[in-house]
Amino acid sequence: MSRRQRTLAELEQHAAELRTGAGFGGDAVIVCDQLVRIFSTEGVEVQALQGLDLLIQRGELTALVGASGSGKSTLLTLLAGLDTPSAGTARVDGYDLQTMDAKSRLRYRRHAIGFVWQQVGRNLLPYLTVRQNVTLPMRLAADRRTGPGRSARAGRTAELLELLGIPELADRHPVQLSGGQQQRAAIAVALANSPSVLLADEPTGELDTASSAEVFAAFRTVNEEIGTTVLIVTHAPEVAGAVRRTVAIRDGRIATEVVRSTERDEQGREATVSREYTTLDRAGRLQLPRRYTQALALRRRVLLELEPDHIAIRPGDRPLDGEGTERALRPSGTGAPGGTGSPGETGSPGAVEPPGAIESPGGTESPREARSPGEPESPGGTEPPGAIRSPGATASSGATGTPGATGTPGEPMSPGDEPEEQPR
Ligand SMILES: Nc1ncnc2c1ncn2[C@@H]1O[C@H](COP(=O)(O)OP(=O)(O)OP(=O)(O)O)[C@@H](O)[C@H]1O
Ligand SMILES: [Mg+2]
Repeated sequence: MSRRQRTLAELEQHAAELRTGAGFGGDAVIVCDQLVRIFSTEGVEVQALQGLDLLIQRGELTALVGASGSGKSTLLTLLAGLDTPSAGTARVDGYDLQTMDAKSRLRYRRHAIGFVWQQVGRNLLPYLTVRQNVTLPMRLAADRRTGPGRSARAGRTAELLELLGIPELADRHPVQLSGGQQQRAAIAVALANSPSVLLADEPTGELDTASSAEVFAAFRTVNEEIGTTVLIVTHAPEVAGAVRRTVAIRDGRIATEVVRSTERDEQGREATVSREYTTLDRAGRLQLPRRYTQALALRRRVLLELEPDHIAIRPGDRPLDGEGTERALRPSGTGAPGGTGSPGETGSPGAVEPPGAIESPGGTESPREARSPGEPESPGGTEPPGAIRSPGATASSGATGTPGATGTPGEPMSPGDEPEEQPR
């Protein structure tokens, strides 16, 4: 094969990969690649999603948090197949949400995903009983010849109501149920056709704390018992703090992720360890937490230095010394010994690796870990299994919203990381 032919073949393969999303996301059940959604109303453009990357593996239970207007509902509406992206790729359970035709879209919405809305009254038909509400999606989706018959549908309905702890409510109408009971019935409706993915947009937003806990427990049961992948938008810290993975969206992009795991210390005692990661997109970009950029007055240009095991970021507008070498100026408290670069390194922009794996200022500190109240620190601070971490590329800032988390005093401790952008 000639060089020219090989290049063409490579280009074709690259184009096919872009089209199908192959090569990115692997076997993830939800793949968002550079997802963009722009709304235009009366000549004003709002970029609700600005190149969002997100991968969710099959069987995960993930919380999505972020300030009001950050793009959470826009993302869920796209994933639900109710809207289409302006650019980028979204793939769920093998369906390409950008290119699917009307027929596939209907099949997708009936079979691949289930959705629970915040508004309790929006999830159930008021004139049907709970049992009829759960059976309806199966009747609508059923192929007359091959689909489940009447008794199979009745069996599935009974199974789901049992799983969600509301079998005795089967013959009631929605108006005869509490908000929490209605949301549990709504989960049963969303699961009727055995979707791979269950999406919920603030499903506990209209409920009191006790009912919220019950509904969240129902999502957890569904995830654990039948393995459905669950993605929940929530403002409730008790929900965001109880899942293994909490993803925070900021200005239409995934900004940070908190991953929780259980580790054992030397005495064999279990401790919940949370780590907060800044996410690095496929192009090598990351969003520095605002409190970091503000603390060091980072603006417009910064200097990067590649160290053996991390990358340092310094203000770009510091004076140079007599030999033209950037002085390693370090705010008190953030400097790890040895972080000033190898001898002979100039620190000038020309000596710096191009962006691609950047560690935010917090990354020069030892990772801090957050534990559940009263739980001991395990020595060593080992990486949690399955942590989402590109080698040398992630910044562990550690402070999380876990109650009693042991972050550095005075630092905000939430998945969103930004005090001004905390979930409500
Ligand atoms: N249909 C629309 N037309 C125009 N702008 C829209 C539309 N839907 C959302 N937006 C805008 O897109 C941005 C993201 O909105 P979105 O509803 O996704 O936020 P959110 O994170 O769900 O917020 P909240 O926590 O308040 O529900 C906002 O600036 C919003 O005003
Ligand atoms: Mg919303």
